[in-house]
Amino acid sequence: MGLYIHVPFCGSICSYCHFSRTADHSPENRRRFVDGVLAEFEMRRAGCGVLSAGKRRLATCYLGGGTPSELEADLVARLLEGTVGRLPLAADFELTAEANPESLDEELARRWRELGVTRVSLGVQSLDAGVLDLLGRACDPATAREGLARACRIFPRVSADWIIGPGLRKENLLAELTEAAELGVEHFSVYILELHQGTRLAALAEQGTWQPAPDTEIERLYLAVIEHLDGLGIIQYEVANFSRPGAESRHNRNYWLGRPWLGLGPSAHGFWGRRRYANFDDFGDWLDEVESGRLPEASVDPLDLSARRLERLILSLRTRGGVPLEWLPGRGWDTEQGRREGLWEIIDGRLVLTGRGFLRIDTIEERLAGLTP
Ligand SMILES: C[S@@+](CC[C@H](N)C(=O)[O-])C[C@H]1O[C@@H](n2cnc3c(N)ncnc32)[C@H](O)[C@@H]1O
Ligand code: SF4
Repeated sequence: MGLYIHVPFCGSICSYCHFSRTADHSPENRRRFVDGVLAEFEMRRAGCGVLSAGKRRLATCYLGGGTPSELEADLVARLLEGTVGRLPLAADFELTAEANPESLDEELARRWRELGVTRVSLGVQSLDAGVLDLLGRACDPATAREGLARACRIFPRVSADWIIGPGLRKENLLAELTEAAELGVEHFSVYILELHQGTRLAALAEQGTWQPAPDTEIERLYLAVIEHLDGLGIIQYEVANFSRPGAESRHNRNYWLGRPWLGLGPSAHGFWGRRRYANFDDFGDWLDEVESGRLPEASVDPLDLSARRLERLILSLRTRGGVPLEWLPGRGWDTEQGRREGLWEIIDGRLVLTGRGFLRIDTIEERLAGLTP
C-alpha cells in the first residue's frame, strides 16, 4: 500500500497554483494540522480490519503539498511516527518529501534524512529570474541552484519539478535541465503551465495584462524536452515524468498500477477498499471535521467495474507502457486514424502514445470515456 500526506502550508502563494495551500499558518495551526492527520489516520485504521491488523506492508509514503519543508522537523517527526511508524514496512520502503529550495536548508535536509526521507522532490520550476518572477516563486535562480546541489549531496534520490510556460527560450530551458542532471537529479516532472480560475495569473490574463504562450510554442518546448532528456539518458515514462532507468517514482507507479493507497490531510485523495475518496480541500473545513471526530471526506466514489476499467485504461495510457489493444472500446474507436496522425504507435500489441499524443491526452481521454459503457 501507499500513503500520501498533504501538507497545506506554503511560505507564499505562487501566481499560478490552485492546489490546497495556505500561507496563513501559525505554529498553533501547524500543530493542529499534525494532530488532525494523526486523528484521521486513527479513524481510518479503526474502520478497517486490514489496516488495524497490519496486514498490508507500506511500500511508499509521499509527503506532498503545499510545501512540507514549511513544517518544522519536530512536527514532521511526529507526523511520521504516528503514521508510517505504526505500519509494517516493505523492505525497500521509499519515503519521498516535496520541498521548495528556499525552505529546505542544510539543517532541515539533514533532519529529514535522519527521519528516513530517501527521496526529495524539489520544486524548481525554472532557473530564469524573469520566469520565477512571473510564477511568483519565492526563490531566485541562485537559491534554486544551491538547493539542487544540497539535495543531491544529502539524499540518495532527487527529483525536480519544472514548468513549461510563457517567456521561455528553448535553449535556456534545455540548458537548465542539463545543469540539474549534471548535479545528480535523476528524475524530472515537467508540467505544462495550466491556467486556473482564482489564481493571480488567471486574473492577469483576464485583464489582458499578460498572455499565455500559444499552444504551438508550448508543444515545441514539450517535444524538445522529451528529446533532450532522452539524449541525457533520462527517459519519459509518463506524460509529465522522466527518469533514469530504475529511478522512476515508485509511489506514482503504484497509483498507476491501481494499488491501494491512503490519503491523509486536506484535499488528499485515497483509494481504499474499492472506493475512492476525496478529503475537503480547505484546511479549515478539513480541520473542523477531524477535530469533531468525523472522517473529512467531501466525496466518495464506490467505483463500479466499468469505472475501474476506464480508470485502468486511462492511467495506463498516460504511461510509456501504453495499453493492450484488447482494452480499447470495440465500437467507435479508430486505432488506425490516430496512428496515421502520429498520436500513437502500436508496439507488441499495445497502443503507446507518442509525445504528440501525450499533448492531446485530455481529448483522447474524453473520447475513451464517451465510448466506455
Ligand atoms: C503543488 S506543487 C507542491 C510542491 C512545491 N510546493 C512546489 O511548489 O514545487 C507540485 C507541483 O505542481 C505544480 N503546479 C502547481 N500548479 C500548477 C499549474 N497551474 N500548472 C502546472 N503545474 C502546476 C508545481 O509547480 C509543482 O511543481
Ligand atoms: S506551487 Fe508549491 S509553493 Fe507555490 S503555492 Fe503551490 S504548493 Fe505552494
